[in-house]
Amino acid sequence: MGSKLEIVQDVINAFEVNKESMLRTAMLFKETMEKSLNGEKTCLKMLPSYIGKPTGKEQGTFMTIDMGGTNFRCTKYKINNGNFEKVGEIKQKLINKEKNYDLTKSDSDEKQLFGFMAECIGELLEPEESLYLGNTFSFPCRQEGINDAYLIQWTKEITTSGVVGQNINKLLEQSLKEKNINVKPVAILNDTVGTLLVAMYSYQTADIGSIMGTGHNTCYLENNHPLNGQKMIVNIESGNYNVGLPVTKYDEIIDKNSQIPGAQLLEKMVSGYYMGSLLKEVCKDLYKNNALFTNEDVDIDAFFNQNFNALMVENFILYPSNTKEQYKCSIEDAEIVKRVSEAILKRTVRLVAVSHMGILFHQENSGTSVNNEHVIAIDGTIYEKMPNAPQLMKEAFREALGDDASNIEIRLVKDGSGLGAAIAAAFAVTQ
Ligand code: BGC
Repeated sequence: MGSKLEIVQDVINAFEVNKESMLRTAMLFKETMEKSLNGEKTCLKMLPSYIGKPTGKEQGTFMTIDMGGTNFRCTKYKINNGNFEKVGEIKQKLINKEKNYDLTKSDSDEKQLFGFMAECIGELLEPEESLYLGNTFSFPCRQEGINDAYLIQWTKEITTSGVVGQNINKLLEQSLKEKNINVKPVAILNDTVGTLLVAMYSYQTADIGSIMGTGHNTCYLENNHPLNGQKMIVNIESGNYNVGLPVTKYDEIIDKNSQIPGAQLLEKMVSGYYMGSLLKEVCKDLYKNNALFTNEDVDIDAFFNQNFNALMVENFILYPSNTKEQYKCSIEDAEIVKRVSEAILKRTVRLVAVSHMGILFHQENSGTSVNNEHVIAIDGTIYEKMPNAPQLMKEAFREALGDDASNIEIRLVKDGSGLGAAIAAAFAVTQ
């Protein structure tokens, strides 16, 4: 066993993704996408959205809902000549400890979950009003039409009973009917698809939409979709990618302790939901090997007995002196926690960039060159809030692709899951 610093360095090295590894994995990602498009079963579901490029002529007032994880949002939008106006919004938590409910776990069922959603929709609807609804439902769904999506499997550790296998908008429609609410679901889409739809309104060359938040996933515009020979947005469900990834022993622990071991491997390596737990596992290991928190005063219990989340990772990076104060550790220890946090964040960004490169290689079809301009739209707190995330992403593209990286623009695109659902609903009723 090496010195304290060597042990720390080894761990940090295990999180490194260099140029060769980025390009190799991106090529594997591309190959996996293409196998899946050709009908082979792979880890990439490549789910059709039945939505192409919006025309820009979408019009009207639409109700939207958005269940991304434990938060639920119901928003009304007016779309007119390419302008969007939010005309009302209700935000709710699906977990309420005071009121003693948790709609995200298996002792709640589909009736309770969709009944709750219908009630929120009812609250936002004016008397005498009747509206079409777009539903952003950010979980893997087998989609058979723009309004027909069947939940394949919950992700982000949600386990509500009676929903897997069901037609989501049918469940919603039933609950709305039971409560006499005059709203008709007409479209269902993934949050990545919503993000790309919104981006397409602003950027001519937007063709990739991605979420880096509690969960992770990406969609892209397929120019010649096997189903209709036309342009269609494909929800890759890239969070489930698992070929050639640089999996560490810490990732293995996270996977083993999760609701569905073996599933959503890339997501478990990069998304906000798991990032804190990953850091905790690394710190536990360093502590066990006497490479962290070696002085006696450290408040070990306070450090390890808390729920690690992505916000903590951010704080460890930004404020090592707070870490020192809070846990009574040395500044060296706080710096180690900071370095590990940075290494985890950097790997997150690089692995997401790798999947984007795989998509670009597929779209361009010329090896590892990217000759055309692309805008990649990203939403989610990891990209938006984590220190330097956009910079790290740019660096990854530049390192892997050299000058071709200048053909790629990455944009933070907000509210895809709200506005995108309104655009999808408009698309559905004006087709
Ligand atoms: C889901 C995706 C979703 C992503 C981001 C993942 O857990 O499987 O459908 O797009 O989270 O919300």
